[in-house]
Amino acid sequence: MKVLLLGSGGREHALAWKLAQSPSLTALIAIPGNPGIAEHARCIETIPLTDHDAIVSVCAAEKIDLVVVGPEAPLVDGITDRLTAEGINVFGPRRVAAQLEGSKLFTKELCRQHDIPTAAFGRFSQAEAARDFVRRRGAPIVLKADGLMAGKGVVVAMTLEEALAAVDEVFAMGTPGTEILIEEFLEGEEVSFFCLVDGETVLPFGSAQDHKRAFDGDQGPNTGGMGAYSPAPVFTAEMERRTLAEIVKPTARALADGDSPYRGVLFAGLMITIDGPKLIEYNVRFGDPECQVLMLRLEGDLLELLYATATGALADERVSMAPDAAITVVMAARGYPGSYEKGTPINGVEVAGATPGVHVFHAGTRREGTQLLANGGRVLNVTAIGANVAEARERAYDAVARIDWPEGFCRSDIAWRALAE
Ligand code: AMP
Ligand code: GLY
Repeated sequence: MKVLLLGSGGREHALAWKLAQSPSLTALIAIPGNPGIAEHARCIETIPLTDHDAIVSVCAAEKIDLVVVGPEAPLVDGITDRLTAEGINVFGPRRVAAQLEGSKLFTKELCRQHDIPTAAFGRFSQAEAARDFVRRRGAPIVLKADGLMAGKGVVVAMTLEEALAAVDEVFAMGTPGTEILIEEFLEGEEVSFFCLVDGETVLPFGSAQDHKRAFDGDQGPNTGGMGAYSPAPVFTAEMERRTLAEIVKPTARALADGDSPYRGVLFAGLMITIDGPKLIEYNVRFGDPECQVLMLRLEGDLLELLYATATGALADERVSMAPDAAITVVMAARGYPGSYEKGTPINGVEVAGATPGVHVFHAGTRREGTQLLANGGRVLNVTAIGANVAEARERAYDAVARIDWPEGFCRSDIAWRALAE
């Protein structure tokens, strides 16, 4: 099978690494790829992911059997609809189903219609009505702009003053004229849960927890994720059973019944509350950096699973995750998520990656000759597997210590919660 992988981050490097192990893979091409992905794929760096015509042309010229879409933006833009119309198999949902991530209002209304547990909410088009609602409900309370906000657009207000002050701000974040959501504040532990969905069949693909804050002790500004580990200890077999029955399966059924079946990986961001799992949000792709830890634990053939997902054949498949624990430590450029320097040299990545159980995925790098350079905020994902979290963590941090990059930083407490349990 010839596969085209779309994306350029650590998530896509992990996917490329695992796809490359498939016995049925004959060629892997990536658009645009990165220096890590280039170890497994031919990268076409000149085509932007917004150029759907050019992507279709590559598929035709290369006789691609499956397109694997890494990030959400092309899905929300309808890349799957376009490629499917050309007869190409795609791992990733069509535009309508991708609204699960693209529109919070779409997801909340779907939850309301199908009794899926989520935070109670109101939707508002006027600031004054929104402030009235906030005054009636009190704090803590959560305000959200609609649309693809790339992790921004959410204010968790712990006081009434903060919440009232945030109303105008949240209206300004969204597309002009769109409503905002105001939600009940959920208390509990957050979990990322992944399922492959082929329209009908839902196969659990493992859980993870990530660390969104920049600094140790979960302090500092929000980021795209500074590290992750899998499995999530709080996500017991019983929690998984409930989440499938109460949240993920009803969602898949609702979309299938509504003539927009979901095909791809469905990433449920959950809050594990005292009343059980509640949906915070859906994403229509693998998490980044959660994907990196899932790929280390996955046994068997990723390509077979992704192809079965794309072609509606998951009923005959099985997902097998190693019982081991995996962890990933994100190395970011100093200053991230604020402003940071690009182009600083990184050495020792090969040595670090040669440690047993360790893989270093490239998230934001480029090469100049043979020298590896930082080329983004989140730059490397130092990922390790071990018999338990403690072993995986020791391996990951040993590998981090071998990387020579003075302009980089990482958190030193990834997986603290799992170790405390
Ligand atoms: P989102 O962009 O929807 O993932 O929200 C970003 C973060 O805000 C989540 O990961 C949670 O930590 C937090 N959050 C979102 N909604 C709620 C809620 N209803 N209650 C508590 N925390 C929330
Ligand atoms: N790590 C969270 C996300 O990918 O959205």
